[in-house]
Amino acid sequence: MLFFNNKGGVGKTTVVVNLADALAIERNARVLIVDLDSQANATFAAGVVKSLDDTRDELRNCNVSNLLLGGRGGFAFFLQESFQSNSVRGVRKNTSYSFSNSVDIIPSHIQLTTLEDNLAESYSRGGLSNVLRKKLAEISNKYEYVLIDTPPSLNVYAKIALFTADYLIIPCDLSIFAETGLKNVKEFVDRINDDKRKYNFPPLVVLGILPTKIPPIYNYVNHSLPKIKERITRRYGLPILKTIIYQRPDLNKCTAHYRGYPQFPEPKSIFAYNRDPMNSPKWRGK
Ligand SMILES: Nc1ncnc2c1ncn2[C@@H]1O[C@H](COP(=O)(O)OP(=O)(O)OP(=O)(O)O)[C@@H](O)[C@H]1O
Ligand SMILES: [Mg+2]
Repeated sequence: MLFFNNKGGVGKTTVVVNLADALAIERNARVLIVDLDSQANATFAAGVVKSLDDTRDELRNCNVSNLLLGGRGGFAFFLQESFQSNSVRGVRKNTSYSFSNSVDIIPSHIQLTTLEDNLAESYSRGGLSNVLRKKLAEISNKYEYVLIDTPPSLNVYAKIALFTADYLIIPCDLSIFAETGLKNVKEFVDRINDDKRKYNFPPLVVLGILPTKIPPIYNYVNHSLPKIKERITRRYGLPILKTIIYQRPDLNKCTAHYRGYPQFPEPKSIFAYNRDPMNSPKWRGK
């Protein structure tokens, strides 16, 4: 399942990491997060970054790029060590932010930015679209859910993600800026589905827009929001999910929790905080 919107900051990563833990806890599921964003925010939020010191950076040569490049001779010089760890089993990490112990992650790393041009070239020649799909198929019996976090753009990593996933959820804060990006998302999905058809793969199914960071203001939620939803459905022809992710300080805190000095990332999932969304925000204007 893929979480994508080419608008940045709408809460994609926050939803991915917290939903992963919710599925593990509430459904007793084994969940794999795939971080395909070179910002590596999900990797941080999942608590697998153990040091901010470059010399002790374990993920530098053991991240999602190994899966994309591994075994591809032409790129060997970028990642000499990639051949030791070019399988999902080789690069996945168990997370420490989760309360369940059943959430693993294929981490990202900022070095993905330096690989982007070369990967884009390979993708355009048709050599990359299927790589991650194949790698994940090898461990399909190990996880009930695979959640993919994406960058806020249609770069090569987003294209690979769109090609790999079966289902798409579009986190969107429903602001006018985020709304205008929905047209692009729809076009991207149509384009990817044309490509998927050529390979006889099932199309990416859009499950819907997930309203995120919605202000807990009574009048907004009960009067404005239904009208905004109606307009978006009419204008973009995309379904909107019933679930609402409210703007909650706890969601902001849990993904960016640091401890001690020098700062050490120690994020926790929302389960470490008040899990009831109706109690947590201060509802205004009721
Ligand atoms: N429901 C929420 N309530 C309050 N803060 C939130 C909520 N969701 C996300 N945030 C905060 O908003 C910021 C952006 O969230 P997040 O990183 O999840 O967005 P994103 O869409 O993944 O961003 P990017 O496009 O850069 O990858 C973060 O500081 C996060 O803590
Ligand atoms: Mg993100």
